[in-house]
Amino acid sequence: MAMRLSSRKRVLVSGGAGFIGSHLCERLLKDGHDVLCVDNFFSSTRDNIQGLLAHGQFELLRHDITFPLYVEVDEIYNLACPASPVHYQSDPVQTTKTNVHGAINLLGLAKRVKAKILQASTSEIYGDPRVHPQREEYWGRVNPVGARSCYDEGKRCAETLFMDYRRQHALGIKIARIFNTYGPRMHPNDGRVVSNFIVQALRGAPITIFGSGRQTRSFCYVSDLIEALIRLMGSDDSFTGPVNLGNPHECTVIELAELVLSLTGSRSPIAFAPLPSDDPTRRRPDIALAKAQLDWQPEVPLREGLLRTIEYFDRLISGPARPALQLAATATVPHVRAR
Ligand SMILES: NC(=O)c1ccc[n+]([C@@H]2O[C@H](COP(=O)([O-])OP(=O)(O)OC[C@H]3O[C@@H](n4cnc5c(N)ncnc54)[C@H](O)[C@@H]3O)[C@@H](O)[C@H]2O)c1
Repeated sequence: MAMRLSSRKRVLVSGGAGFIGSHLCERLLKDGHDVLCVDNFFSSTRDNIQGLLAHGQFELLRHDITFPLYVEVDEIYNLACPASPVHYQSDPVQTTKTNVHGAINLLGLAKRVKAKILQASTSEIYGDPRVHPQREEYWGRVNPVGARSCYDEGKRCAETLFMDYRRQHALGIKIARIFNTYGPRMHPNDGRVVSNFIVQALRGAPITIFGSGRQTRSFCYVSDLIEALIRLMGSDDSFTGPVNLGNPHECTVIELAELVLSLTGSRSPIAFAPLPSDDPTRRRPDIALAKAQLDWQPEVPLREGLLRTIEYFDRLISGPARPALQLAATATVPHVRAR
């Protein structure tokens, strides 16, 4: 059914070709909106949005948000920023620029065209937390001069900018603090724990656990996160956040490895490696605020989400070789167990 013109919006998604961004673009198109995907392909390829290119309401603009942009839009989701340590540490100065200059450019655009703007912030702003689970009031414990600081401090500065545009210019802003999210279209070689374990298991390669494996993480399936972002953008103007978005189910890294091994039926051995610096030991969101304000909570259990993600990587690995995959093309691909 055609959407009423009054509710059809022009939506800019920066970082729209990335893992989360591509799912968001897809959902916005499904909801009947016009989508402008802005991406410089720093940590993604056109593959993620290949299926959207022919859509009449989808437009792709290759652009680096550290440079200003002039377009007419109603809403902006700012997702542009490499999210995995491998990518954001490969050019840390560019990472800070993307977070800070990028935010300034998009906030300036939002102010000019009176658009609502949502920032994809991160649980990393809590650093290695002393408070558990993390609530939005907690100010965090972040190393300002470490290898992860370009990301952590860049995101913290972006939150400051968003709040100051609200206070100084009465701009309609929203801040989402996203916790570990996983699902199809994650980059296979970016070192994130879920994609790493699945790709290693499917290839029969050793599963690398950094540290003892007793550190915890909470994993949110991507469709749950997308629902939360849409609800946040649509929430009352008086609600800005920051709001935690993630799955409060906490598991140790070793438990995750064992689950991936059992779901893939892989015989990969587990190999331990030294913990990278400033790696947080515990991570779990308190989502009481999201529940109260957005009437939202995650619905996809870890096992179910992992099966969908394994299915994706299995197809990717068994498909025609892609440059990203050739790097580590190795051994056998065990069969994915049926559900
Ligand atoms: N995936 C997670 O678990 C997670 C957790 C917390 C926060 N986030 C945030 O969500 C957003 C999306 O994360 P993701 O997992 O999809 O990462 P991703 O790396 O897959 O996507 C980021 C996208 O931004 C693009 N990009 C990077 N710098 C840019 C620039 N200067 N100009 C234009 N485009 C640029 C990249 O090419 C990529 O397509 C990021 O801002 C990230 O910090 C993600």
